[in-house]
Amino acid sequence: MEYRSEAAIRVAMMPKDTNVHGTIFGGIILSYLDLAGAVEARWQGCERVVSVAMCEVVFLKPVFVGDLVSFYTLTEKIGRTSIHVKVRVTAQRFEDPDEFVDVTEAGIVYVNVDQNRNPLPIPNRND
Ligand SMILES: CC(C)(COP(=O)(O)OP(=O)(O)OC[C@H]1O[C@@H](n2cnc3c(N)ncnc32)[C@H](O)[C@@H]1OP(=O)(O)O)[C@@H](O)C(=O)NCCC(=O)NCCS
Repeated sequence: MEYRSEAAIRVAMMPKDTNVHGTIFGGIILSYLDLAGAVEARWQGCERVVSVAMCEVVFLKPVFVGDLVSFYTLTEKIGRTSIHVKVRVTAQRFEDPDEFVDVTEAGIVYVNVDQNRNPLPIPNRND
């Protein structure tokens, strides 16, 4: 299993995203992780997903204002109604655009749901 070469999302970090130490607040990264994983679930054929679990979120290195942050995804497992996605986050440093650093990794589980928010089987892409 390999991460896609195309990032699910890419975001430039802004001053409004910082914590009291001046680096990027972890909660900001968490929200983008959630969004990137949901994009991966869409790419796998899910129409409407909700996140049910976030696991093994590791913040490996700090992220700074101006960094261009890319969220790469891979699908680990597709169950009946759930999909397990891994997200790897890389920062291209604002101060040195030649420097790319792995900053965060996470596993997220989504559930495909219907309009009433009840679990719905994930369509088989070969259907
Ligand atoms: C997602 C939700 C609809 C699942 O409801 P549920 O009653 O647990 O449904 P089920 O027991 O049928 O489980 C559905 C699938 O989720 C999986 N699942 C449920 N809880 C899980 C957990 N904690 N970790 C991993 N997978 C989980 C089940 O294994 C099942 O997968 P499968 O169909 O591929 O075998 C419900 O928990 C919910 O609405 N949660 C809130 C979601 C939300 O609002 N997220 C946004 C963040 S606030």
